[in-house]
Amino acid sequence: MQISVIGCGYLGAVHAACMADLGHTVVGVDVDVTKVDALNAGIAPFFEPGMPEMLADALASGRLTFTTDIAAVKDCKVHFLTVGTPQRKNEKAADLTFVNGAIEALLPHLLPEAIVVGKSTVPVGTAARLSDQIQESCPDAILIWNPEFLREGFAVSDTLSPNRLVYGIRPGHDEATLVLDEIYASALHAGVPRIITDFATAELVKVAANAFLATKISFINAMAEVCEVSGADVVQLADAMGHDPRIGRKFLNAGLGFGGGCLPKDIRAFMARAGELGADQALTFLREVDSINMRRRSRTVDLAREVCGGSLLGKKIAVLGLAFKPNSDDVRDSPALSVAAQLQLQGASVVATDPKAVTNSAKRFPDLVLTESLEEAVRGADAIMVLTEWQEYVSMDPYELASLVATRTIVDGRNCLDPEKWRSAGWTYRALGRPQ
Ligand code: UGA
Repeated sequence: MQISVIGCGYLGAVHAACMADLGHTVVGVDVDVTKVDALNAGIAPFFEPGMPEMLADALASGRLTFTTDIAAVKDCKVHFLTVGTPQRKNEKAADLTFVNGAIEALLPHLLPEAIVVGKSTVPVGTAARLSDQIQESCPDAILIWNPEFLREGFAVSDTLSPNRLVYGIRPGHDEATLVLDEIYASALHAGVPRIITDFATAELVKVAANAFLATKISFINAMAEVCEVSGADVVQLADAMGHDPRIGRKFLNAGLGFGGGCLPKDIRAFMARAGELGADQALTFLREVDSINMRRRSRTVDLAREVCGGSLLGKKIAVLGLAFKPNSDDVRDSPALSVAAQLQLQGASVVATDPKAVTNSAKRFPDLVLTESLEEAVRGADAIMVLTEWQEYVSMDPYELASLVATRTIVDGRNCLDPEKWRSAGWTYRALGRPQ
């Protein structure tokens, strides 16, 4: 099938490559010429395991091209809308400029019976408005809302093998879903559940799921705060709670909290939208979820000060991890990067490193001292702070590191290290929500 993918950021680029991998002929469109040139040259503008191989194969097959020219979509039957919906400046609400711009640019090029598939994360009510707009200019074209649930670091496998497919449609548009079924045939054959619903429910599934995940993380981080004042251990608490299958252990990892381009902005946009609809009370708890999350960052800075004897001034701190999570180079709203910047602002002499996110961190905080080398970061350190749980940090050898640092002190911001392993090697080990 001939399909277009409008918006080649993280979601769009992965989606375009995966659709080509499934055998479809795909044109990816983006307004950013640098991004388009890079993608056509087989270079993904972000780090994602499996993506370079997938992109290279898809380009070599001749089924995938990228362009800045929206007219290139004119023969496509299906158009995926994958543009970003960032948080508006100084506001909680989502900025729909890219969604609106993409639809306006697309409308003149729609085939009479085209299908537009919305994948961007949008405030509830957007799909109904866009559907009206599409049908006004192209009465037989149909919009389906098909939210995306992929995780960074697992984007390729999540796209090819999603854990559910949700189609939001207008009554009477059921036939269009067959076209989407054809596109996702391999996932459906593998038994992936498919939920067909209305626009509003489809839009809400996405933000409700992210709000739930954010709440789960903040719940355990709130427990970490209580553990810290009562001497309890949040990791054991989470393990014990997680054995209850109704609760589950996933997303109960206490630590520095959530960041990235999705969870933080999605819960804020969700609150803003609920407020517009007159249901603000329903989501006031998300304000608490957000503040618990942000408090973890200041608590981590406080812990750094504490282990440095009460003042950060002139202390050399090695920050290990800057990405918002491992297996990603994404530093959008990264708790690790924000803590590194805070430590520096408060007078510490920070040397930070990350296996993949050094370049992106330098763009955000040009004043931060960065290195690609773990050894260089920790040399002469008064304290090591592990802020993103990359495997290379989890598996560090405390005996090897001991000879490099000034003081054997390590702060585990992600509860990813084994306290016993570090303590028995003579280190002062401190973590969020765990006893000293
Ligand atoms: C999230 C959702 O998990 C995806 O399902 C969704 O499709 C995506 O947002 C999106 O809206 O596009 P992602 O942002 O890739 O995916 O990251 P997550 O794996 O959800 O992690 C988010 C943050 O929570 C990270 O900073 C991570 O370190 C933190 N986290 C996660 C914790 O602090 N504790 C946990 O137990 C789990």
